[in-house]
Amino acid sequence: MATSVDPTTSEAPAWWRQAAVYQIYPRSFADANGDGLGDIPGILSRVDYLADLGIDAVWLSPFYPSALADGGYDVADYRDVDPRLGTLADFDTMVEDLHARGIKVVVDIVPNHTSDLHAWFQEALAAGRGSAARERYIFREGTGENGELPPTDWVSMFGGSAWERVEDGQWYLHSFAIEQPDLNWDHPEVRADFVKTLRFWSDRGVDGFRIDVAHMLTKDLTEPLPSRDELALIPIDGNHPLLDRDDVHEIYAEWREVFDSYDPPRTAVAEAWVASDRVPKYAAPESLGQSFNFDLLMAHFDARQFRDVVAHNLALAAESGSSSTWVLSNHDVFRHPTRYGLSLPVPEGEVPGRHGGGWLEAGADPSALDRDGGLRRAHAATLFMLGLPGSAYLYQGEELGLHEVAEIAPEQRQDPTFFRTNQEQYGRDGCRVPLPWSADGPSLGFGAAAPHLPQPEWFAASAVEVEAADEASTLSLYRAALRLRRELQGPEGLEWIETGRDDVLRFARPNGWQVVTNFGAEPFDLGADAADVVLGSVVDGAVPAESTVWIAPASLV
Ligand code: NOJ
Repeated sequence: MATSVDPTTSEAPAWWRQAAVYQIYPRSFADANGDGLGDIPGILSRVDYLADLGIDAVWLSPFYPSALADGGYDVADYRDVDPRLGTLADFDTMVEDLHARGIKVVVDIVPNHTSDLHAWFQEALAAGRGSAARERYIFREGTGENGELPPTDWVSMFGGSAWERVEDGQWYLHSFAIEQPDLNWDHPEVRADFVKTLRFWSDRGVDGFRIDVAHMLTKDLTEPLPSRDELALIPIDGNHPLLDRDDVHEIYAEWREVFDSYDPPRTAVAEAWVASDRVPKYAAPESLGQSFNFDLLMAHFDARQFRDVVAHNLALAAESGSSSTWVLSNHDVFRHPTRYGLSLPVPEGEVPGRHGGGWLEAGADPSALDRDGGLRRAHAATLFMLGLPGSAYLYQGEELGLHEVAEIAPEQRQDPTFFRTNQEQYGRDGCRVPLPWSADGPSLGFGAAAPHLPQPEWFAASAVEVEAADEASTLSLYRAALRLRRELQGPEGLEWIETGRDDVLRFARPNGWQVVTNFGAEPFDLGADAADVVLGSVVDGAVPAESTVWIAPASLV
């Protein structure tokens, strides 16, 4: 499985292949102007923190003007900063400061839909049926005697109908929230405008892009439109009317020309929820170049599942020539310490949090969570992930070992999932609560005002200032691991080493760096190798239950 790719440094064009990328959810990171929302100057004030953490890049979730109907993924203007979050000048300063500390900047591009406040959609509403302005979106007449029923019975990703009726009686498609009308990607102006946006941010020094729902842009909406049941029977093999169509790659081929016209070439990573055999298409060098796989995030804390996920995804990456990505937490799912601390089993293959997935179902008892066990397993999984070849994506707050926040009152919730499922699914607010920076203050150092989502009392014990002073904290572990990861990083590649146990995984990187994860309850004896452990604890020469160690020959450290 070893490849001959050279070790990458952040100076090299291929910096992304093995980068540790830290996801910032800007509204919940740090609030400099005291309005309860995190902002760009807040990020700027924490550049030292990011540099000390030892990451190679930050990925910023949307910071564009937005009514926040979907946490900023409803973009009203793709080429500006939300005035509540700062200015373009602040953005430029942030990029400059991050670059000065050797940190690359990746921004989120949301091409499937705009906000309903986007100038184009407002123009489409005003211009009326049959207008050229409506062609940029997906407007249709309704069904029923007077068009009072939606064109189809399709359901949006957040629940409820995927169609919304406008004043003059036409309906528009929204795969996500009502405030997120889908764009018509057959329209040349739509295509041209996104090229302009990619250039706009690339010209400002942005190093790469994360492409939101990259598998949903192109659609075949030839009449008659299929029903929901009929849709479900159509194979997703490149020709499905709505999902993962082959023709989406024509768009990315055009984007590739844009990316490659810069020096170093801009990078992209696809958020594509597609069958794994379709992932290499997105990760191909002529398409976006890299794709997320969410398999590790969907796996239980289980040796067999982890091994299968890794082997499978390394093979897929080899197919496209890209490097693999690894993710345990992001802004869309329950934080991984919480997933691993659930007493309710999450059905295999289901993403906990995305589809409800367990303890946060309305009426569930949050006290069922094994907080310590979940965190212990999360540490083990994180060190396992950080040892893998490829890029690791970390989500803000995981370096503090934060659990999902359950204590959010219905009137304080923001996620459309909560409202569009009749409050049956709590959705994603619990992983988006503003970060605790200090043990006290009105918002635990997040800013001067109450934060936009309430922080629970137990956040104080995980504040950055508390954990920074504690060698045994999760933050200290992440810092040590990320620093060491840079030192140990060598060529991509991985070889499994037989452990004689089903619940212990051990792998070696081509340069001799080894990772041992004990998923089981019994210690795993390391023999003489215990002397070469460079990270993680060894007790009596053994890897304790549910933990990971890194082993490295003296020549590497
Ligand atoms: C995926 C994003 O990660 C999620 O937060 C968002 O709600 C949807 N795409 C719609 O943009």
